[in-house]
Amino acid sequence: MASINDGIVASYKQLVSDLQTHNHYYHVLDDPRITDGEYDGLMRQLLLVEKQYPQLIKEDSPSKRIGGAPLPEFTQVKHMVPMLSLDNAFGIKALRDFDRRVHERLQGSENVSYLCEPKLDGVAVSLIYEDGILVRAATRGDGAIGEDVTSNVKTIKSLPLKLISDPPPRLIEVRGEIYMTRQGFEGLNVFVNNRGEKPFVNPRNAAAGSLRQLDSRITARRPLSFCAYSVEQYTDSGSPDTQHGMMRYVGQLGFRTNPDIFFAADIDACERYCNDLLTRRALLAYDIDGVVIKVNDLEKQKVLGFLSRSPRWAIARKFPAEEAFSQLLSVDFQVGRTGAVTPVARLSPVFVGGVTISSASLHNPDEITRLDLHLGDTVVVRRAGDVIPQVVRVIHERRQKNSSEVLFPKFCPVCDAPILNNTSEVVARCSGSLSCAAQVKQVIKHFASRSAMNINGLGERLVDQLVDSGCVTSIVDLYDLSLPMLIPLARLADKSARNLLSAIENSKKTTLQKFLYALGIREVGANYARLLAKHFASIEEIMAAREDELLALDGIGPVLAEHISMFFADPKTCKVIQDLQKKGVHWPLYTADGVRDIPLDGQVWVLTGRMESISREEAKNILQTFGARVSDSVSSKTSRLVAGDAAGSKLEKANSLDVPVFDEKQFLQFIADIQTSDL
Ligand code: IVH
Repeated sequence: MASINDGIVASYKQLVSDLQTHNHYYHVLDDPRITDGEYDGLMRQLLLVEKQYPQLIKEDSPSKRIGGAPLPEFTQVKHMVPMLSLDNAFGIKALRDFDRRVHERLQGSENVSYLCEPKLDGVAVSLIYEDGILVRAATRGDGAIGEDVTSNVKTIKSLPLKLISDPPPRLIEVRGEIYMTRQGFEGLNVFVNNRGEKPFVNPRNAAAGSLRQLDSRITARRPLSFCAYSVEQYTDSGSPDTQHGMMRYVGQLGFRTNPDIFFAADIDACERYCNDLLTRRALLAYDIDGVVIKVNDLEKQKVLGFLSRSPRWAIARKFPAEEAFSQLLSVDFQVGRTGAVTPVARLSPVFVGGVTISSASLHNPDEITRLDLHLGDTVVVRRAGDVIPQVVRVIHERRQKNSSEVLFPKFCPVCDAPILNNTSEVVARCSGSLSCAAQVKQVIKHFASRSAMNINGLGERLVDQLVDSGCVTSIVDLYDLSLPMLIPLARLADKSARNLLSAIENSKKTTLQKFLYALGIREVGANYARLLAKHFASIEEIMAAREDELLALDGIGPVLAEHISMFFADPKTCKVIQDLQKKGVHWPLYTADGVRDIPLDGQVWVLTGRMESISREEAKNILQTFGARVSDSVSSKTSRLVAGDAAGSKLEKANSLDVPVFDEKQFLQFIADIQTSDL
């Protein structure tokens, strides 16, 4: 052992104190004052000094947080004060009954206020500090005898190894919950998965498993947190006289307390708090299974006392369980607009997270592999808040013999095209594209939706019927629908059919933004559609834009740029866009700086005769796209006549009135010019 001098002792103490302070800032107050690198540097210095002068190491050294040699087993310890449980209230009536019992026992006190605390779903521990130093940490065990987990608990950075108090109390026992945040849990499972180990089923399980490691160096690597919720023994005088004051006091000693603690003046306020927390449950950083409601006045707590297992002054208002057992009845494979094949578990109905659910998304092929699903399996279903229900795991022990494994199909269940598993993404996709009825249906539904082409009356069922009957095979076909085609479709009355046709007709007049959105380019929602429409002058420019030009737009990243350019690189897509325009889909044109520019605005055109390469209807639609009004008769107000073959009286009249005339060739050239001109 190296010899030691006062200077070394003093600088060592300074190091210990600095590390304790910065640990508290970071892990308890969420307010780091130095970088992680600087913290690690201080820790390295400490370890160097301790290696040279091991006689300096004390129980509260920050190096204890790294963990020590594995224990052969946990020592059993008797709790000085038994660790009790809580009575549960599952509904509002049980909560009011609790309040009534409290009032009855506390005859004479009209006002009873409460402290409401989120009930963290973790593991309860008792921490004993002597002269400010953590000397023992124990699990609850059976309430009377628990296990000594001191060296593991020391690795948890959100609890103090030394209390912030001068002088510290001779003895204090603080209790609280060791838990794992959802983020910590997910990160841990990624790590565990990567090592080929079995993932933890939920954060509580992960916290319990991590705490009960005989090798505390393993615990040190687990993302455990601690939150204090009570003080059991306290030797010094002048302690707070309310639960709320007690929480403030333990906060001053260096513990993390729950920031969502709420003082409630009466049971009505408790109820409001519970309802509020229930709505926020899914947004919390950690799992809770309810609210613990405690009589705030510690003197009143003493008067109320205990039953055999639980205090009379507290109750746990339990929230609906977020997990429940169900049975896997079947798995459907749904094909979405972009061909993504999503497996959906059909389950026997089960009440979970406050609602009855009978299906849950299984997301992608990897998830099916992870779960190792067989038909008929008993599964754990989880629904947290508004989050979509999940199948968390399979209870393998309950698997029926000879049950068949759920396999991801190799061919699309709708169109039989091969399903592709591109390595760059987790979802599997049907390669059938627009020849897959499922994809066509979704494309049409999206195209017709309100923020897209807004075709009122083209609901889900009708789209299914139109596609299944073969009337519609692409969005272009919508514009060829007619009464005789619609009427035979089941349950479509004459009036609805007419309304639908006029909605389809009205949809032709749109905006570039809506049209872009309606096309259903992957990841291009209404906002990106607006961005593209504003930046580029025309659909042609967007179609021709290179990836680097798209990337130059604020907010468009490489993935989106790739989706957009890949979408327009497909000749089939370009054909659909052209066909839609031919059918009359049009929008006002904008110049690059966003100013409306309609080249034929205010003009009146007349069409006559027969043209070879363009129908009267298409020509009319194109002219309208550019802002012209198309009239049936020639007058002095006519801007121009387009005269095809066998033009008769209209041509004569135009000539007599000196109205300019285009033949078919000239007309086609003219529209080609304005379409490509630099507007
Ligand atoms: S007080 C004698 N407060 O709930 C009462 N418990 O069901 C002691 N829990 O074992 C418990 N958050 O693990 C209390 N704010 C809180 C709590 C809480 C979670 C757990 C604790 C306890 C269990 C009782």
